[in-house]
Amino acid sequence: MNYRHAFHAGNFADVFKHALLSVLLRHLKTKDKPFFVLDSHAGLGLYDLSDERSLRTGEWRDGIARLLARSDAPDALAPYLAAVRGFNEGEGLRWYPGSPRLIRNFLRGQDRLAAVEMHPEDARLLSDEFAGDPAVRIHTMDGYNALKSLLPPPERRGLVLVDPPFEEADEFAQLARGLKEAHRRWATGIYMLWYPIKNRDAVAAFRAEAASLAIPRTMAAELRLEADTPNRLIGCGIILVNPPWTFEAEAAAILDFLVKVLGRSAGASRRIEWLVPEEGATPRAARQ
Ligand SMILES: C[S@@+](CC[C@H](N)C(=O)[O-])C[C@H]1O[C@@H](n2cnc3c(N)ncnc32)[C@H](O)[C@@H]1O
Repeated sequence: MNYRHAFHAGNFADVFKHALLSVLLRHLKTKDKPFFVLDSHAGLGLYDLSDERSLRTGEWRDGIARLLARSDAPDALAPYLAAVRGFNEGEGLRWYPGSPRLIRNFLRGQDRLAAVEMHPEDARLLSDEFAGDPAVRIHTMDGYNALKSLLPPPERRGLVLVDPPFEEADEFAQLARGLKEAHRRWATGIYMLWYPIKNRDAVAAFRAEAASLAIPRTMAAELRLEADTPNRLIGCGIILVNPPWTFEAEAAAILDFLVKVLGRSAGASRRIEWLVPEEGATPRAARQ
């Protein structure tokens, strides 16, 4: 386990993932009933962008910093940008929220977060940060095991974020297996699985595998900052299951803006596609 998210906090991939995550969290708050969030690969709570690791890569400069410098962001981005600004009052841009802190920001008194982190040092920092917070429980364990042991939640409403570091050669296969098992336990939850776009064939195979699970209402949303180049991280995507009905339009507005603001070349693009639209529909992969 070499991956440390501190080198990448606030980069384009975080912006993409956290902006779309914020749309889902805001949607969950539209009903009074409590909801539950499982963050299976949590990382840290808050990242200090003046930390040596952040400064060394400076990735946030081509990510969140570019968004905060704009005044023409679409309404769908407002909850995310307000959350990030809320952590930086009077400080310009110094702090960037990792997923547990961002999720916590959206919880009400009746909602819960289970954050899972396997790296012992990050898990300890996370536990210290949320010590005494009754809404948050930290689990030091394997995130894929958590998809089995922590689901279904008693609340029966909520969201699962699966955001692994892609250090393992079989991470795509683990993701697909994890979704299948989690969905079998909890079919009504919203699922968001992040993946890198580095190898076009691997991404196509993963999308086909996700489609072949035939889980109704499965969507893929992708952002490419430039045209596909073999073995170069040119973008990222998410597989979503059970997104709210308004999500597609909000995601389109967000991704159009990210293409404009974060794109590296004229080859920048976005894609939103239903892999399995509705109950009983034929999976897209089977139609091709
Ligand atoms: C991409 S980072 C998470 C970023 C975070 N979700 C966010 O959006 O701010 C992946 C995290 O997963 C942790 N990790 C790696 N393998 C894991 C596993 N099997 N189970 C749980 N966490 C794991 C890493 O230590 C790292 O902190």
